[in-house]
Amino acid sequence: MCGIVGYIGNKKAAPILLEGLSALEYRGYDSAGIAVLENNKIITKKDKGRVSNLASIVTPCNLKGSIGIAHTRWATHGIPSMENSHPHLDNSSSFGVVHNGIIENYNDIKLFLIENGYNFLSQTDTEVIPNLIHYHFKNTVSNYQDKFLASVKSAVSELKGSYAIEVISPLFPDKIIVVRKDSPLVIGIANGENYIASDIPAILPYTKNFYFLDDNEFAVISKNTVKFYDNNLLEHKKETKLINWDASSAGKNGYDDYMLKEIYEQPDVIAETIKTRFSMPNNNYFDNLDFSKEYLESLNNIYIVACGTAMHAGLVGKNVIENLCRIPVEVDIASEFRYRNPIVNDKTLCIYISQSGETADTIAALKLAKSKGAKTLAISNVFGSSITREADYTIYTHAGPEIAVASTKAYSAQVILITIFAMYLAEVLGTISSEDISKLKLEITELPKKLETILNDTTQIKKFAKIVCTEKDMFFLGRNIDYCTALEGSLKLKEISYIHSEAYASGELKHGPIALIENGITVIGIITNPELVEKSLSNIQEVITRGAKTLVITNQSLPNNNIDNIIKIPETHPLLAPILSIIPLQLLSYYIAKSKELDVDKPRNLAKSVTVE
Ligand code: G6P
Repeated sequence: MCGIVGYIGNKKAAPILLEGLSALEYRGYDSAGIAVLENNKIITKKDKGRVSNLASIVTPCNLKGSIGIAHTRWATHGIPSMENSHPHLDNSSSFGVVHNGIIENYNDIKLFLIENGYNFLSQTDTEVIPNLIHYHFKNTVSNYQDKFLASVKSAVSELKGSYAIEVISPLFPDKIIVVRKDSPLVIGIANGENYIASDIPAILPYTKNFYFLDDNEFAVISKNTVKFYDNNLLEHKKETKLINWDASSAGKNGYDDYMLKEIYEQPDVIAETIKTRFSMPNNNYFDNLDFSKEYLESLNNIYIVACGTAMHAGLVGKNVIENLCRIPVEVDIASEFRYRNPIVNDKTLCIYISQSGETADTIAALKLAKSKGAKTLAISNVFGSSITREADYTIYTHAGPEIAVASTKAYSAQVILITIFAMYLAEVLGTISSEDISKLKLEITELPKKLETILNDTTQIKKFAKIVCTEKDMFFLGRNIDYCTALEGSLKLKEISYIHSEAYASGELKHGPIALIENGITVIGIITNPELVEKSLSNIQEVITRGAKTLVITNQSLPNNNIDNIIKIPETHPLLAPILSIIPLQLLSYYIAKSKELDVDKPRNLAKSVTVE
């Protein structure tokens, strides 16, 4: 939520900042701005609207400064407007700040600053930061060898909430100061120049060497050096990490939209995850996990906690773990878990799934479980992300950068990874026979080819998308593991096509929502479990009888029975079916959104990385 970029080097900063902002636009896109140091002044250009709009303002100015900061906004305090766009300056224009996060006590600070003669131009929480830095610079910090850093530190120690902040000042024209707490920030190292960003893809074209800033850690960044300081301003050393993502993997590669590209990347993503896990020595899928049989047997239950699509991957995980390991699994929404005093202790294993690894509620839910003595395992796609640094253990999905706001390939990677994790648990516990493991492994290795089969023929899906794109409501039905797919299919539809939809467990429909089924309404059924075919078909018949238009996604041979459309997907092990059955639903949402000429990659009101509560 909100993306920040920074550059310091010998090149013109503005084009680099604009490019970085475009790559980060998935974090927020209601306004954007940059500030560069030029002729001993901070030059700021900003406006509401997309980064392309900002580019049309910045490019003709031909800004020459080679130090700059930039921001793309997802509004919290104050509507999207020029005044509320970042960067924000203090009243004397001595300090320029961009900020990702929320300052919870900004009202108190604002009142204090107003009493001390400061004026405010925006409704944002952020504007207090440059003014507070200025206040400390003038009034409290003295005789300190680095007055800039000391003033930033004094200001930051008054802030409550979450922040990743970049600060520039014409008084100190050779450095950028950054600090973070509960909002992400990475520093990319290159030769004679350094880059800053909320997320790796923004600066991947320039470097693969990154520093990951920790909470309450300050960095003073110049062209040739990066110095790190703790909360007491004691300097310390830090190691860079090599990130082997290919810069082109953060581009569109000829596809119209990132989402479509990411849907089509799924066979490779699944293949990569399988290859990595099945080629570990001693058939041990995870070399960093050391759960003993005694520990696993001592568990009362497992929690899987996440938000959005990641939570749906958790629901699939519940089905797989309970089936293979016979341990009760509860799935919870992170924002609920953290406030409901969950029953968690050292007999609970808590698993947190987060593509970005930065979702505020998921991180808070993890911290809570840790404080209650549970072991915590993170499943994340982003190396070094906040959640991976908080968790006792981390296993990574290898989905590569996911740019489209609506998650597709990260979901599949999460589902396959948690499935392999369930196999690992089952083998340690001895709850699965070697024969069953071999069968499952064989089916897993065949998934990438089966995914390709679905992706190679999308005619039926495109046709159906055209038919239903003007609808206002839809229903998704499934039983057991297919219900998880129904939930995720329904979420995809809402996110990018703005069509209201409900996902229901097929058998539950008749307990209320069937009252909404009337002539012409679209119902999408997912039927993959051979043992539940008849029951699921009966539920479809119930809606057909009431006039529904139906699409069924299945790997079974179904009698037609008046179903309007059947999309056949390849057969697989019932526990693996969600990896295949979600693909037509991802494509359906995509093509519906395209038919409605919507911005598929940047749906209204959403952001990819939700770093606020
Ligand atoms: C946002 C995104 C979703 C994502 C969810 C959780 O709502 O729009 O696509 O599933 O956050 O994100 P995470 O990074 O924790 O998986």
